[in-house]
Amino acid sequence: MSFTGSRTDPPATRPKCTVHTLAECKRNRQRITALTAVDYPSARLIDEAGVDLTLVGDSLAMTVLGHPDTLSITMDEMLHHTRAVRRGTHTALLVADMPYGSYHTGIDDAVRNALRFVKEAGAEAIKLEGGRERADIVERITRAEIPVVGHIGLTPQSVHRMGGYTVQARTLIAIDNLMADAAALEGAGAVALVLEGVPREVAAQITAQARIPTIGIGAGPECDGQILVFHDLVRLTFTPPAKFVRTFGDAGTTMREAIQHYCDAVTRGDFPSDNESYHLPLEVREALKLATPEPAEVSA
Ligand code: KIV
Repeated sequence: MSFTGSRTDPPATRPKCTVHTLAECKRNRQRITALTAVDYPSARLIDEAGVDLTLVGDSLAMTVLGHPDTLSITMDEMLHHTRAVRRGTHTALLVADMPYGSYHTGIDDAVRNALRFVKEAGAEAIKLEGGRERADIVERITRAEIPVVGHIGLTPQSVHRMGGYTVQARTLIAIDNLMADAAALEGAGAVALVLEGVPREVAAQITAQARIPTIGIGAGPECDGQILVFHDLVRLTFTPPAKFVRTFGDAGTTMREAIQHYCDAVTRGDFPSDNESYHLPLEVREALKLATPEPAEVSA
């Protein structure tokens, strides 16, 4: 907890990224940057770096809540994290992930839950997993004025059906199915498509055919944009990274070292120092008949 510094957010200096910005990026062949955020600090760092799209991904069930998969995270938990990310997001497009179970029980439930992300947490779009079987849901949520990002290929909420987190669309039939999924989601009004865990060649073909932008994760460089999980990017994870992850920093090591230095300083008696301590005013010290401190010691 910091006792200094402003608690108000800085004014946005870049134009706000909207769904129209994504479409414009596709038209102008400008690559879209996207990252997941899970809380206020990660959201602020991402937003201040000028990332186009921030996703409150349900992968936070694993990265910050310690679950083995994404299946158990609830609407209330996702809303809680989305509100925190909202407070740190100013220019990025804020997309919230619909958790498993929030859109699988019928269209009305799906629309109601999508509306909760907008009304209760300030999301500007939602993302849901699945292809043709979700087209009617995508259409209805879109008709409720909520932009929808589709997610096809390796869909982590289908882990049991897929039999693990395996690369998808490696056979001719599976490729045809994925292409049909992409076309159906686009036809239903999706504003973008996350392509996860698919061969580069397949992602390139979908990207060439789609009029909406594709955002890849483990889908090669031809996608219109890329997304990574924030904790993978900064290596704040406890398992070896997947093949498609590039770690651009090592926050885990930095944090481990900081914690070790803190423990060492406390056990040595080096922390806190006198300068890191508060002091009584001189007259109070005198009234209490305490020894007068050295001038350097009364600064705080
Ligand atoms: O939940 C998540 O982090 C995601 C990304 C992998 C796209 O859906």
